Amino acid sequence: MNTLGYFITFEGVEGSGKSTQIRYLSNSLISRNLSTTLTREPGGCPIADKIRAILLDADNSAMSAMAELMLYAAARAQHVNEVIAPALSDGGIVLCDRFCDATVAYQSYGRGLDRSIIDTLNSHACSGISPDLTVLIDCDPRVGLERARRRIELSSGPREERFELEAIAFHQRVRSGYNQLAIDEPQRFVIVDGAGTVEGIALEISAAVLARIPEGLRAIS
Ligand SMILES: Nc1ncnc2c1ncn2[C@@H]1O[C@H](COP(=O)(O)OP(=O)(O)O)[C@@H](O)[C@H]1O
Ligand SMILES: [Mg+2]
Repeated sequence: MNTLGYFITFEGVEGSGKSTQIRYLSNSLISRNLSTTLTREPGGCPIADKIRAILLDADNSAMSAMAELMLYAAARAQHVNEVIAPALSDGGIVLCDRFCDATVAYQSYGRGLDRSIIDTLNSHACSGISPDLTVLIDCDPRVGLERARRRIELSSGPREERFELEAIAFHQRVRSGYNQLAIDEPQRFVIVDGAGTVEGIALEISAAVLARIPEGLRAIS
């Protein structure tokens, strides 16, 4: 448990709308004067951002599944230590675009790595921190990948598309993995349908989050 703050993670397949929706939620919480840190994985701090670049670079198609898993764990250990844990200790809300569930969905359900290795690495990387609430945006990967492809074509930044280039069957396994995680921990997960409109989904998420966050979280000073 996180002693003071409140930790919310966003999960879902590529293009499900995580980055779009987490920005909406962040603005909604800030407009309620709640101290809010918006971050993402892999990355979220300079050292982990360097690992992100390796993980998402489509040129790294030769990366082994185990090397990939360990890079995620290394990036997470740094990010938790440098960003997430301090913000939670300070009594704030932390919103993180992907977290441990992504590693289970992609590396275990997607790649077939042993779940017990993933759970062990996640637990070491998180040093006792776990999400209080996880918003799972459930979305057909064909819809999500089409959106993600369009976003990548329009962006001028690095082509972070190593996962977008995986076969559709891989993304279907990731989607079912996420749904299984939500079945396993129904208290922690809120599932929203990613096929709705951006505004409709944003309202649904903000209502679910506001109904759950505790009193007494840190205000913006
Ligand atoms: N509900 C939605 N309907 C239609 N397009 C969407 C929706 N949510 C997001 N998008 C668009 O799809 C693309 C991918 O969304 P994004 O939030 O980046 O997804 P993710 O972070 O889950 O990969 C973006 O261009 C975004 O504007
Ligand atoms: Mg995103």
